Amino acid sequence: MSRDRAGGAGAPDAFHPGALAVPAVRGLSPYVPGKPISELERELGISEIVKLASNENPHGPSPATLTAMRGALEAVWLYPDGSCHELKGALARHLGVTPECLSIGNGSNDLLMLLAEGFLSGECSAVYSQYGFAIYPLVIRATGAQAIEVPAQPRSAGMPFGHDLAAMAAAVRPDTRMLFVANPNNPTGTWAAAHELTRLLEALPASTLMVLDEAYFEYARERGLPDTLPWVIEHPNLVLLRTFSKAYGLAGARVGYAVSHPEIAEVLDRLRPAFNVNALAQAGAVAALADAQHMQRSVAVTMREQARLCEGLARLGLWFAPSAGNFVLVEVGARAPQLFQELLTRGIIVRPLANYALPDYLRISVGLPEHNDRLLAALRELRELCAPATTARAAPSATSAASATPATTAAATAARSATAR
Ligand SMILES: Cc1ncc(COP(=O)(O)O)c(C=O)c1O
Repeated sequence: MSRDRAGGAGAPDAFHPGALAVPAVRGLSPYVPGKPISELERELGISEIVKLASNENPHGPSPATLTAMRGALEAVWLYPDGSCHELKGALARHLGVTPECLSIGNGSNDLLMLLAEGFLSGECSAVYSQYGFAIYPLVIRATGAQAIEVPAQPRSAGMPFGHDLAAMAAAVRPDTRMLFVANPNNPTGTWAAAHELTRLLEALPASTLMVLDEAYFEYARERGLPDTLPWVIEHPNLVLLRTFSKAYGLAGARVGYAVSHPEIAEVLDRLRPAFNVNALAQAGAVAALADAQHMQRSVAVTMREQARLCEGLARLGLWFAPSAGNFVLVEVGARAPQLFQELLTRGIIVRPLANYALPDYLRISVGLPEHNDRLLAALRELRELCAPATTARAAPSATSAASATPATTAAATAARSATAR
């Protein structure tokens, strides 16, 4: 191939093979994940880095899970079980559903893509919320479908930046095939109460699938959010998405699942690459389910730490959104990029949110107690880069935080203390 044909710099008739992509894909920008530890080590030549940027579980998987994954290595020369038979069986028993309702993905991200591929096209639309998980508009647009973004609740609402479910229901058109709700949502941490979700489900036409993304389900249960599984029986247009990446500590293994009507699972099965879930991930997920105590212990510690982190942020005079996940959205002000950089030089990676049109905010994942101590100490040191909260938050209303969260939880107390300022 000549240099010009290969797109050589400055060539007058440079060939741009990227322009051959289908029109829907040409306008997309790739998802930018949190900075990996290895990259920061390379850049700054420092070690003992704390990563609080991708909502992982720093407690990691249980020893029994790691043993099972090491065991699976012995047979790594074989293709994995393409049907995920053992994992589906274990999940079916764990959830009390039939295996036909289950789809397993290379992370729940894989399932989001398969759902979009299976049910969206250039002739239809899909609805999601402003500040909703960034993958939703990406997978919608990649199919050529119209992405309808619905404004989130205002910062002054009881659930600041939360999905406005009534407005989302109102945005549904006859051509709307899918509506995405993250509960709780990433990056805001906000959530909707059971009665708000069921009202939305009841309002949706049967021709619109509701994808209820519960990536943080196990943490959210700790905050009293509902078990939504029975709703799948009553609503054949509901798809639940959950993952082993967060509470189960298996983000690097890539395994997530959907619970849906068997016909939806069958559509996903037609599209799914034959071996989309690798053997180590399958072995790890089966073992992790069998050792639920480990996960539950780490969730309890994390949510206690989340409350402690919030108390520390409140003491620094910083505003943060209420969160039912293992992370907190914090307002730090216009100098967020400098603060992010300063934290990096101290070996702490958090998540800037300019790509979510929240340039004055950072998302901080809850780490181990010593990680959170390090973060709070660094923030104290860097206080002059943080803008104290400017607007008071309205008290949680009866239809949002208060009704969804047991009023006695430490997080609710911390959230109220921030409100009171
Ligand atoms: C709301 C939400 N959904 C889905 C995912 C995808 O998770 P995974 O592909 O690791 O299962 C994430 C990951 O951060 C998330 O925050």
